[in-house]
Amino acid sequence: MGSTGNIKQLVGYGVIDQVVQSGQKIGMGTGSTAFYAMERIAEKLNTGELTDIKIVPTSFQTTTELQNRGIQVYSMNDPQIGGQLDLAIDGADEVDPDFCLVKGGGAAHFLEKLVEYNARDFYVIIDESKLVDHLGEAFAVPVEVIPEGRTTVFRLLEQLGAQVELRQAVKKAGPVVTDNGNFILDARFPGGVQKATGLSVASAEARIQSMVGVLEVGLFSRGVNAVYVGRNNGSVDVLLPQKP
Ligand code: A5P
Repeated sequence: MGSTGNIKQLVGYGVIDQVVQSGQKIGMGTGSTAFYAMERIAEKLNTGELTDIKIVPTSFQTTTELQNRGIQVYSMNDPQIGGQLDLAIDGADEVDPDFCLVKGGGAAHFLEKLVEYNARDFYVIIDESKLVDHLGEAFAVPVEVIPEGRTTVFRLLEQLGAQVELRQAVKKAGPVVTDNGNFILDARFPGGVQKATGLSVASAEARIQSMVGVLEVGLFSRGVNAVYVGRNNGSVDVLLPQKP
């Protein structure tokens, strides 16, 4: 049996070893699984096994992790990035059988989506506890709201069938304040997003995104190239979506 840290390390190292090549522009995700992808890429840059990699981080957390390892970071707006990437690598909070995701457990899903929806290829790294039949049932869907829109969006999400909570901070009084200065509404959908809303995941994503006051919703329906799943027995499965 692998410990959780070992499993995350396996998928984080595995994806770097299998998909990253010198010269690429890469989006780097946020969280405890992406941490190991960063660790591996730093190691390979230090040994010279990888060269000329440009990395766009998806949060303050990832920015500091990379900078502390001496890695230069870029923004999507940097002329050398030009708003598009070769690939992005990130963890997820939930993955459903259609390879749609819930993200934003770390409140970083706005920048994650900007980066990952503008990458040619997208690889997800998880442990097997993240595989679910229905998104948004066990793990709430994070919705980043401009503070002035908090009450309106709360009400609209309830009308859509969600049970909503304003995410509270730890070691700070009051709500979580995101990297963008906003709040997070956590929306749990009894029976899952599709059952509770009567919409596909992609339509629910678009509906919530269209609410005035929403910066971004943590439903990701763009599709993935592969999901690396670390199993409790210490093995890694690479799940590939069926080609249309
Ligand atoms: C950050 O906002 C999230 O989307 C993370 O990518 C997600 O919560 C996965 O994090 P862990 O790998 O730490 O579970």
